[in-house]
Parts: sequence; structure tokens; C-alpha cells
Amino acid sequence: MRIPDIIIAVDGYSSTGKSSFAKIIANEFSFLYLDSGALYRGVTLFAIENNYIDDKCTIDAEGLEKALGGLDLHFGENGTYIGDRCIEKEIRSLAVADKVSPIAAVPQVREFVDRKLHEFGSRKRVVMDGRDIGTTVFPDAELKIFMTADPMVRAQRRAAEMQAKGENADIETVLKNLQERDYIDSHREASPLAKADDAIVLDNSGMTIQDQLEWLKNIIAERFCQA
Ligand code: DC
Repeated sequence: MRIPDIIIAVDGYSSTGKSSFAKIIANEFSFLYLDSGALYRGVTLFAIENNYIDDKCTIDAEGLEKALGGLDLHFGENGTYIGDRCIEKEIRSLAVADKVSPIAAVPQVREFVDRKLHEFGSRKRVVMDGRDIGTTVFPDAELKIFMTADPMVRAQRRAAEMQAKGENADIETVLKNLQERDYIDSHREASPLAKADDAIVLDNSGMTIQDQLEWLKNIIAERFCQA
């Protein structure tokens, strides 16, 4: 199926499978996939390693803002990079997951990430996943999906992913981390997680990734491929 040059925004709660869904869309339609959460995770790793956030999640926002000017955070062949260091593995750790929501609530961090997303998104034929792509970053995106799923299903998926990577993943801890992130992401002042009025909800609790792709293809066929 050939579709026009559009931006597809995939927003929703943590661990609803946004990135798997966005990647399969990118692959199907030869779109560029951009993982906005990876940029927030990259800033978080940088903040942890340079002591801009402590164990109690107290943030030196002023210091961090100044340091962001010199932070070379970008996507490369194997995922996310700071300079020429691939940080893909570190940014998926629980240590980063624990601190990413408070870091993502800092307005200066959001401005830094939004600037990067706009550089990439100006070329269209892009699918981006995140929390505020359809509401704040690209409010004019031609297609907006808002993903949700049962919290326990989400915790089980995330725990299985972590176990597959050899990380310790106790289901209760993972569920707690997800719920905390949902709360902070939805209640922060700077562009909170919210469904855009024109977004279509996808609850994928009982769906395979293939079911989700079929669902999307039907929507695209209806909206963009009418004769
Ligand atoms: O999608 P993810 O779990 O990798 O995202 C990590 C965190 O980044 C998430 O808890 C909230 C934040 N985030 C955000 O605030 N806005 C986005 N567009 C993407 C992610």
C-alpha cells in the first residue's frame, strides 16, 4: 500500500508497545522511525552520569539546562548515541526508567528534545512515538494514534522484555514503576501525556502486533487511499 507523505504520531502510556507498533509501521511503509522516549532517556543517562539528578530525584535544572547546549545526543546505526558512544543498552535499564519521568518534566529538557524532533520531522514520512507528539510536538500530524492497554498486561510485557535481556524484573516492581510513570507523565505541567482530540484510540491488550498492523492498514486505506 502506497501512502502519502504524512507524519504519524503514536502516543500513549508506558509499555503499551508503542515502539514495536511504530517500528512495524515504519517498516511496512518505508517511513523513518523516531523514538522520542529514547531522547528523554538519553538526557536522563547524561543527567545521572553528571550528577544533575540525585538518588532522591532532586534535579539541578539550571545546571542541566546549561549542559544541554553541549550534549551531542542523536540516533545512529545501533540506536541512540551520545557523541560516538552507543547508549542503547544503558537507557533501557531500570536505573534510567526510574528517573526519566522527573527529567522529562523539566521544561528546558522538553524544549531540547522538541527541537531535535522538529529537525527530524520536517522531512515527513516519519512515524514518531512518545507522549505528546500528537498534542504538542506535531499537533498537525495527519494521523494520530493513542495507545493503551491493561496495566497488568503492560507490566508482564515489560518484565518479559527485561528478562530476555538478562535483567532482574520482579513483576510488582515493574508494575509500580509503570504506574508511577503514568502518574507523573499525565500530571506534569509541561505538555502532559494526553490523548489529542483527533487521535484514534488503540487498546491492544488482546492484540498481536500483526493484528495491530492490520487495524492500522484499514484506517489508512479508508483515510488516505480512497480513489
Ligand atoms: O517511551 P519511553 O518509555 O521510552 O519513554 C520514557 C519516558 O520519557 C516516559 O516515562 C515519559 C517520557 N516521554 C515524554 O515525556 N514525552 C515523550 N514524547 C516521550 C517520552
